[in-house]
Amino acid sequence: MRRWLPLKRLQKVDVKTCIVIVLCLIAIIQFIACFGVFDYEYIPRDEIERKLYLHASPNVRKSSKADCRYENVYQKVFPDDWEIKKSVNDFVPQGIANGSYTPTDCLPLISVALLVTYRKRQNQLDIFVPFIHNFLRKQNIHYKLYVIEQQDDKLFNKGLLYNIGVQYAMADKFPCLIMHDVDLLPLNSANLYSCLHQPRHMSASIDKFRFNLPYKTLTGGVLSIRTDQYTKINGFSNKFLGWGGEDDEFALRITKHGLNILRFPPDISRYTMLVHKQEKKNVARHQMLVNPNPEKDGLNAMPFHITTQHTHRLFALIKVQT
Ligand code: BGC
Repeated sequence: MRRWLPLKRLQKVDVKTCIVIVLCLIAIIQFIACFGVFDYEYIPRDEIERKLYLHASPNVRKSSKADCRYENVYQKVFPDDWEIKKSVNDFVPQGIANGSYTPTDCLPLISVALLVTYRKRQNQLDIFVPFIHNFLRKQNIHYKLYVIEQQDDKLFNKGLLYNIGVQYAMADKFPCLIMHDVDLLPLNSANLYSCLHQPRHMSASIDKFRFNLPYKTLTGGVLSIRTDQYTKINGFSNKFLGWGGEDDEFALRITKHGLNILRFPPDISRYTMLVHKQEKKNVARHQMLVNPNPEKDGLNAMPFHITTQHTHRLFALIKVQT
């Protein structure tokens, strides 16, 4: 009789408790199954050099200095480094003017326009700007930071903001673009901020997703793409309003043009996400992916908007009324 006691006890457990127990078990199994699994294809470190797109902007003045070297960045194994300064006042803006920095010891072979779309997240911008300048100044690249701010209270239009920012970056003759969320901070110094011959999803390992890539075609977060490729695919759609989807549609444009999305190894592609309240979700975003119209919706067909440019020492601020 004793043998059946546990079974009898189990029969007494009510349905709600059972559901909770089953859900907990599923969560534990999932957590264990995912933890530390990096299930995406990536370029091994020793092949990165061949894939680099080494093009400096014509605005970089030629000199007799030796070319900058980059293998010291992407070949080196760095520990994660996420010391965030408590105050912007600790930041020394040496070498930065109009949001731009050019290395002084060597001639850069990489010029990058870093584009950050933004609205009402001053506390994140205050952390992001000094952090990213400190991170990038160690990489021997020429870069400029653009913050594109939506000024009105309409639904956030990230795609349009990127398209506008890219026009400024093109006027400044940047051959490489990096689209960057303001809430993501790179943790590993080997994550070279440059373009490859193909677009690169740079934030493949985010702490919010327990350093796993949620799905293979994800391009959101941080993405690098050559300026000529961005124009070829006609930029972002201007039609995604609110949170989500515009990056998935952008991924469709990339693959439609025969381009591939590449990634660096997981230990290099690590980011931490700053906590924030999410923008209103675009509930139509999945439906909008069914019939995209990239030829008539993008860089070549931006809806009416007004922009003004303001230059700060640490970034070019582009204010947009949509
Ligand atoms: C959204 C994307 C987002 C991704 C990861 C998807 O559901 O459509 O815009 O980047 O989730 O958060």
